[in-house]
Amino acid sequence: MRNQFRFENRTLSFLDSASSPSDLGQDYVPATPGHPNAAAASGTPPADAALSSSPAHVLVFIHAFPMNAAMWEAQVASPPPGWRFLAIDLRGFGQSENDTVGTARHTAPAIDDYARDVLALLDHVGVFDAVVGGLSMGGYTAFALARLAPARIRGFILSNTRAEADDEAGKKGRQDTLALLDRGGVAAVAAEMLPRVLGDTTLRGRPGIVERVRALIESNSAEGIRQGILRMMNRPDSTPLLSTIARPTLVIASDEDRAASGGQAHVMHRGLANADLVTIRRAGHLSNVEQPEQFNDAVHRFLSTHFGD
Ligand code: MLT
Repeated sequence: MRNQFRFENRTLSFLDSASSPSDLGQDYVPATPGHPNAAAASGTPPADAALSSSPAHVLVFIHAFPMNAAMWEAQVASPPPGWRFLAIDLRGFGQSENDTVGTARHTAPAIDDYARDVLALLDHVGVFDAVVGGLSMGGYTAFALARLAPARIRGFILSNTRAEADDEAGKKGRQDTLALLDRGGVAAVAAEMLPRVLGDTTLRGRPGIVERVRALIESNSAEGIRQGILRMMNRPDSTPLLSTIARPTLVIASDEDRAASGGQAHVMHRGLANADLVTIRRAGHLSNVEQPEQFNDAVHRFLSTHFGD
């Protein structure tokens, strides 16, 4: 279920619904050899390309800040027939190493770095294109993928996220979080974020989920979190990109989200040419963790509507 691979100077980790080659189906189409975008991220041939078969379709989930791939466990555990679900630990989160390990970094951390991790994962599993599903910071990464490698994205799930860049107040909030991280470490960031990323229904009545999310945040390194803040703060406005995205897209909002508003979901829905909009009930920002059944229903319906055989 959990796997890892080397990309540039670090190990990246991911969850995979296909835990062994024998779990895989019979419709595998390898990445197009020699295609200009194939292996663009890593420059290396797909390490798993030797697997003889796999389900026809792949979906890669990209986690929120400051979470990791484990937030997608309820999704990776139940892909619909014909689908292989992957969830990546972006560099510096979960079990993926940061890119400062063993090397000096000469460029400023950018959201595009995370997009390159996702492309490297596609290369690693030998898949040319996939649906990408990002929640919040994962959505910012999905937009970076739409800019960097549009041909490799079959569709998007943009959950509890926004197209806009940080405004001045947003950037000030990032500086405050950096200062909190310096003062109090990862536990202080977790304590501050829980009431922001969980909805009232969860906060009042589901202590198991609250503690699980706290543990998930606290399992990340301070350096990974610090670089995540910088990458989000530096990200460009993706609003102009919306009208260029023609791939099927599912926009997901939730009714108790304090971190990404329904208004921001409507901006994306209106700006995209081919988008469905679903609102998850009794969920805050982490809609897939708080209401996995509703979330999975919406995703599975979207996949069968737009990619059904
Ligand atoms: C997230 O959940 O990824 C964060 O809320 C994103 C952000 O802080 O902009």
